[in-house]
Amino acid sequence: MNIIHFETIDSTNTYLKNNYKQLDNLTIVSSDVQSSGRGRNNRKWDSSKGNNLLFSILIKDKNIIRKYKSLSIISAYTIIQILKQYGIEDVYLKWPNDVIVNNKKICGVLLEAVSKNAIECLIIGVGLNVNEDKFDKEYLIEATSMKNELNKTIDLNELKDIVYKKFIENINTDYDFYDDIKECDYLKNKKVSIQINNELKDVEVIGIDHDYSLKVKDKDKIINIEAGEASMHI
Ligand code: BTN
Repeated sequence: MNIIHFETIDSTNTYLKNNYKQLDNLTIVSSDVQSSGRGRNNRKWDSSKGNNLLFSILIKDKNIIRKYKSLSIISAYTIIQILKQYGIEDVYLKWPNDVIVNNKKICGVLLEAVSKNAIECLIIGVGLNVNEDKFDKEYLIEATSMKNELNKTIDLNELKDIVYKKFIENINTDYDFYDDIKECDYLKNKKVSIQINNELKDVEVIGIDHDYSLKVKDKDKIINIEAGEASMHI
């Protein structure tokens, strides 16, 4: 595995955006802390030094880039597999990129593309709360960590090894994760407000569809929403 680790960096996603040309496919960049960690929808991602998992994976292989619609969800699902392995039960995937335990967010994924005429590379950024035990209440959804859920401190180096191996395995496989993902669909049958192209709609979620879009009922119409066009409020 190609791993580049920093004690501190602005953002592991930004680092890969700026340096992807000279780096190999599946290079992993991690950091103990980020000074400008980024989340979806221009939000910031804060994390105290050395307590959590902050990493990004570079995708340059065209065969993997073709799967870009599923990569955010498969990444979140990979974290779910690992949390279960650590004994955390009732873990859910909140479409398209959050991992939820006890109605609290434990992990977020930020998938970004660098495009010229075509997509040159994808960057999967993952922030997993591991040993953080106090969270500000300023976020839309309350946060939790592995430590808070398991009442014990987690060995971060051991976890990193397990997480990176599972990511590489899941990104490379042609296995269809859909049936597994359907089982942990957090939004299924929930009523949510969803912002699509500046319009706020109250919809009823049917569930994650096979193409990894979200199938919802908007009044009497069934529509499918792509991850890139939506932000969500429950
Ligand atoms: C979200 O839930 O909004 C996504 C959060 C993604 C955070 C990770 S931390 C590592 C990588 N670098 C960043 O700046 N963001 C992602």
